[in-house]
Amino acid sequence: MSPTRTFFVGGNWKMNGDKKSLGELIDILNAAKLHADTDVVCGAPTIYLDFTRQKLDAKIGVAAQNCYKVAKGAFTGETSPAMIKDCGVNWVILGHSERRHVFGESDELIGQKVAHSLAEGLGVIACIGEKLDEREGGITDKVVFAQTKVIADNVKDWSKVVLAYEPVWAIGTGKTATPQQAQEVHEKLRQWLKTNVSEAVAKSVRIIYGGSVTGATCKELASQPDVDGFLVGGASLKPEFIDIINAKQ
Ligand code: 13P
Repeated sequence: MSPTRTFFVGGNWKMNGDKKSLGELIDILNAAKLHADTDVVCGAPTIYLDFTRQKLDAKIGVAAQNCYKVAKGAFTGETSPAMIKDCGVNWVILGHSERRHVFGESDELIGQKVAHSLAEGLGVIACIGEKLDEREGGITDKVVFAQTKVIADNVKDWSKVVLAYEPVWAIGTGKTATPQQAQEVHEKLRQWLKTNVSEAVAKSVRIIYGGSVTGATCKELASQPDVDGFLVGGASLKPEFIDIINAKQ
């Protein structure tokens, strides 16, 4: 990782936990010794955003796991960035593979959500990643570049964006990408940003890796020059998350 990019570790709790178990996890995180020079953000279920923000130490950020593309209105079941901010929460995860592939979110909708969230002042963790058949078909670059383009088309201020490369085949499967596989894609994404956005953005944007990151795999991944942190699912619900936060040597 470059010394100019602050290491960033996000936990994505997905649809897991309850007040009791998340409260216990928060107590552990609050008491833990975390690297002061690493940004940490926990992605809580919508219903627990307020609870999480109130209990979690202020040095740890909180993220929503999704939001809608407009501020308010007749959109039953949806949550707006304005509501997320009203709970003191400053981040949102958008374009996660489960939103894309379980809930059928299109690139277009994800782009609209990115634009609106940034306009409302939220930081965005924007997720991209190829499926197994796409990797095996040799079109990983094409897929992640196309997803990144839609995100980039909707970003004016890159200082509020973290790009999360999460190969779908690595999510929840226990099959972590090798450090070389992650580095290869991250480097290409940075090159894409240089060509299509600017050299300054390519240098400064954090590109984090997600997909079966564990306490055992995090250190070697973190040592790769273009891996600027992680987005962690399953392991973010365990005390092991602290080792992942502190992975950067
Ligand atoms: P796992 O760490 O459980 O594979 O999940 C990764 C992920 O989807 C984070 O957003």
